Amino acid sequence: MSIQTVAAVLTLLAILALGAVFLRVRWLAHDGRDYAPVQGTAYRIRTIVFWVLVLVGLPISILLFRENPYSAQAAAPQVVNATGYQWYWDLDRSEVTAGTPVEFRVTSADVNHGFGIYDAGGTLVAQTQAMPGYVNRLIHVFDAPGTYDVLCLEYCGLVHHNMIAEIVVNEGEANDD
Ligand code: CUA
Repeated sequence: MSIQTVAAVLTLLAILALGAVFLRVRWLAHDGRDYAPVQGTAYRIRTIVFWVLVLVGLPISILLFRENPYSAQAAAPQVVNATGYQWYWDLDRSEVTAGTPVEFRVTSADVNHGFGIYDAGGTLVAQTQAMPGYVNRLIHVFDAPGTYDVLCLEYCGLVHHNMIAEIVVNEGEANDD
């Protein structure tokens, strides 16, 4: 099962569970009950949930922010200027080096395009939007050398399917050490 299928199934189960809770609340809504007996328990649960969120959520947030991809900008990136046209990509360089950050400056000369980079196995490794009037900066470190394809990820007209460019990723010198 792919990770997308797992995510889809988990999402569906969560939706069903949430729906069941709503239906149960709706079902019990006619029942007039005294608050006092359940209030103490509810407040205790609320306190527990609050501290669990603080004690679990805070370390997770700190951990995730340490992995912040934007810190990769610190190592002087290789810059690739990419412009989308109906219907082709214009890249000012088509060869980069693996293991060091590549900064793609992505824009469009006409309509919105999607800038998606695929490895040889057809897996999307990075993507951003190509928009007229904006330059979106996409920073990516290619782990493996090889030939990558840039495909358009947003339907932009008749020849959308043929907006394909190639990026050759060469072995980084750092990899030999
Ligand atoms: Cu450009 Cu689809």
